[in-house]
Amino acid sequence: SYRRETVLRDGITLWQFHADRIERHAGAEIDALLRSDPTRPQCHFSPVVNWMNDPNGLCRIGDDWHLFYQLHPTNTEWGPMHWGHAVSKDLFSWTHLPVFLHPGQNLERLEATGGAFSGTAFRDRDGKLRFYYTERLPAYDLFRHYREIQKIAEPSDDMVVVEGTRVVIEERPAGVEHDFRDPKVWWDAEKNAYRMVLGASIDADPAVLLYGSPCGKVWEYIGPLYRAPDRYKAEGARAVECPDFFRIGDKWVLIMGFVGHNDPATGRHNLLYALTGDFADDRFVPDDDAFQLLDFGTDFYALQSFSAGDRQVAFAWLFNWEYRKPAGSPYSGELSLPRELTLDNRNRLCMNPVTEYGQVWPPVRLSGNDGDYAIANAPFEIALEGLIEGTRIVATQDGDISFEISVAQNMLSITLPQDDGSIRYVALVREDADLRVVHDAGIIEVFAEGGAICGTRRNYRNITPDRLRIDTPATALVCERRRT
Ligand code: FRU
Repeated sequence: SYRRETVLRDGITLWQFHADRIERHAGAEIDALLRSDPTRPQCHFSPVVNWMNDPNGLCRIGDDWHLFYQLHPTNTEWGPMHWGHAVSKDLFSWTHLPVFLHPGQNLERLEATGGAFSGTAFRDRDGKLRFYYTERLPAYDLFRHYREIQKIAEPSDDMVVVEGTRVVIEERPAGVEHDFRDPKVWWDAEKNAYRMVLGASIDADPAVLLYGSPCGKVWEYIGPLYRAPDRYKAEGARAVECPDFFRIGDKWVLIMGFVGHNDPATGRHNLLYALTGDFADDRFVPDDDAFQLLDFGTDFYALQSFSAGDRQVAFAWLFNWEYRKPAGSPYSGELSLPRELTLDNRNRLCMNPVTEYGQVWPPVRLSGNDGDYAIANAPFEIALEGLIEGTRIVATQDGDISFEISVAQNMLSITLPQDDGSIRYVALVREDADLRVVHDAGIIEVFAEGGAICGTRRNYRNITPDRLRIDTPATALVCERRRT
């Protein structure tokens, strides 16, 4: 029911490639194409071809979930950013649609330059969808001397064609450097007005900025919603990016990433943090200063959530700039399983696979032989209950380790064979915590303590394990996931 149209400006053919690919294959053919690659994750979203990063504009319209994402349609590397588009009824079976947003064009060179950067979709009270995103200008050098402005895009009713884009915020407030991006917009019933948060820095402190608008088109800067403590600046953090700000029950949750940050204790970067607190009268008051690290693994960034009825559902980009997919792959970048976000009784943000996972990919129990399991090339899952202290899970392919998960002295760790030991990917867990491990062609997602502790890693080696060895005092349930 979605019209397949290529939106091109005269003379610009650079963008055509991706749309062509999509148009030449009907939905089922693309599905078959994706499934014919045994190294491609099956229940995780990936682009048909070429580069993807952040999930964008997540929204639910009628019975459809719309997913947009940062896409470089002509290359497997990051470059001029477009918005890719896919639609699903169940969050797992996706129909890929042509490119939704294009970057501005450089008229002298007739090249797509700059970028349609991350942003959100927002359904207005009259039911109309609006897309807010950042455009990075100008162009020749995508990494330096850039400027970032905020725009609105208005799609046609079929959500395939963008009829026009307009600038809504052009000037930065005083003290804000060139990182000024990734709008998240919502309707604030208390204020009877729209609110937007943006990632930026103020006088070099990484910060989240709050804007307000009576109509969604003209915006005014209200002030900083949050300024990161000095420590993060000292640790290299230059600005906030990808802020997400939403309500769960009577609490508000702020999620953000820090550009340039390196955790000195572990050497890790690309970390996402959450704060829980109260938001009233345009002031966010965190419950305390302690950031919750959203993921103790290597590959979980740029999370964005949907507000869908009474659920908050999120995807994150599974990627790490340091451990990239080996060259030669037709695509780069994948998304996490869709996760439902909740708060536990300590107000920790918990993430767990959405219930649709069990419906679209139901579990089929595998019986083991004294802790040994034979694994076919299908997504699988391990669930442990009881005492987990002393657990060791090793997955191997032809005898070579694909990944290892252990709990020793309350430290839950995920280890890949290529780790050199200088950084350990660990989190503190209760010895009687529930533990769930999901594996899909090299994507390892770990959920513990009801999803309050999550670890995600993307392995590109030995990604089709054929054997699982589980030593644990807990009760282990091992399942294969088979698509309905
Ligand atoms: C995060 C990010 C965003 C930006 C986008 C550009 O991964 O840097 O801040 O909008 O990617 O692709």
